[in-house]
Amino acid sequence: MISQTMQHALNAQINLEQYSAQLYLAMSAHCIGKSFKGFGQWLKVQASEETAHAARLIDFVLDRGGKLELQALEAPPTEFGGVIQVFEAILAHEKGITGRINALFELARAEKDYASEIALQWYVTEQVEEEARVGEIVDHLHAVGDQGGAIWYLDSKMGKRSVQ
Ligand code: FEO
Repeated sequence: MISQTMQHALNAQINLEQYSAQLYLAMSAHCIGKSFKGFGQWLKVQASEETAHAARLIDFVLDRGGKLELQALEAPPTEFGGVIQVFEAILAHEKGITGRINALFELARAEKDYASEIALQWYVTEQVEEEARVGEIVDHLHAVGDQGGAIWYLDSKMGKRSVQ
C-alpha cells in the first residue's frame, strides 16, 4: 500500500505530465500556425509521450492500491515567439520536470518506498534522454538561426518523427 504523502506527490506529477502534454500541443499549434509543420508534428508526438508518462504513473498508483486524484489542468500560453524560443522554453520546462522527478525520488528514498523508487528510475532515465534530445535541437536551431533555408530543412527532418 502506498503512503498518502507518496500518493499525493505522484498525483501531482501525473498532473504535471498532463500539463506538459497540453503545453506541447499548444506549442505544436503555434508552430503549425507559422507553417513549421515539421516542428508541429514533432511536438504533437512529444505531447503523446507526455500523456503516456502520465498513464504509466496512473497504472503504478493504482497497482499500489492508491487513489487517482486528477486535478484541473492549468491553461498553457498561446504565444511562444520564434521556433528557437519554443525549444528553449521546452528545455527549461524539461529541466524543471527533472527537478520534480529527482524530488520524488528523494521522497521515495526517505520513505523507504522501494517500489516507488524503482518505478521512478524509469523517469530519471527518461529525463536524461529528453534533456539531451531537446538540447540537441536547441543547438541545431542556434546553428542555423530562424531565418533562411536551413530552418526549413530542419523542419522537414523534425516532421519525420512518429509515435513509436
Ligand atoms: Fe514527461 Fe517530458 O517529461
